[in-house]
Amino acid sequence: MRLKDKIVLVTGGGSGLGREMGLLFASEGATVGVNDVRPESAQNVATEITRAGGVARPFVADVSNSAAVKKMFAEFLAAFGTIDVLVNNAGIGRTRETGGEVELLGTIDLTDDDWHKMIATHLDATFYCTREALKVMIPKGAGHIINQGSIAGTAGLPFVSNYCAAKAGIIGFTKSVALEVAKFGVVVNAIAPGFIDTPMTAPMTAEAREWVISNTPIGRFGEPRDIAAAALYLASDDAKFMIGQVISPNGGWTTA
Ligand SMILES: NC(=O)c1ccc[n+]([C@@H]2O[C@H](COP(=O)([O-])OP(=O)(O)OC[C@H]3O[C@@H](n4cnc5c(N)ncnc54)[C@H](O)[C@@H]3O)[C@@H](O)[C@H]2O)c1
Repeated sequence: MRLKDKIVLVTGGGSGLGREMGLLFASEGATVGVNDVRPESAQNVATEITRAGGVARPFVADVSNSAAVKKMFAEFLAAFGTIDVLVNNAGIGRTRETGGEVELLGTIDLTDDDWHKMIATHLDATFYCTREALKVMIPKGAGHIINQGSIAGTAGLPFVSNYCAAKAGIIGFTKSVALEVAKFGVVVNAIAPGFIDTPMTAPMTAEAREWVISNTPIGRFGEPRDIAAAALYLASDDAKFMIGQVISPNGGWTTA
């Protein structure tokens, strides 16, 4: 068991990559706090983990809201007493429901709200949760923080400049915090997945999926397990010499 008795919080844990991480971490002995803004999603994954023999509890909060994050951490710490691993994973692929096919939004078409909502959901949330986790991890002299980046933040993608900016921001934030807190025993890294089959990518058009597959040397989308496995490594003691790194399971989309 690689995370025996570790206390973990996964934001956006009610779906896709967060769900997979919660299930894998619990199977490795962790107690898992499943955060999500959608109460039924958080509850369903917590139930799924419990039914599989693990220990989990839902924590409903919008992590883009500073006050909501403070409240969630107070509840989390009251329930579990500490935090060993934080995964900043919550995210959105688009800021508007177009009711079907995904609409390509050029930068000149982005509203202020499209911009701010994307930055808030990814970058503000990562900051808010990291700040609360560090209040526990620094005095304790131990902890692992894993931030969900993307190839959108490393290589860039067209027609999602707000998403790319948010993900690139997360990577810069990861490196800075990692350098700042390494001496306190807190290990901070990021993952930059390529395209993975999750509810986030499910609404992509057949044409967009074909574009992804033809640009991915391995010739397919990744599976949530590919990302959860990288997260498990970064959450474990095996990663204690990894400081401010970006691991990118992406099927060859980029080798940079
Ligand atoms: N799927 C991919 O191809 C891919 C690739 C690279 C990076 N990512 C990133 O991985 C993360 C997870 O993506 P996924 O594919 O599992 O998506 P998903 O839509 O399946 O899951 C995201 C979860 O985050 C939750 N969430 C959204 N906003 C929230 C908020 N403000 N507060 C709390 N919870 C919130 C959603 O309710 C949802 O349950 C995201 O940060 C995403 O940008 C995904």
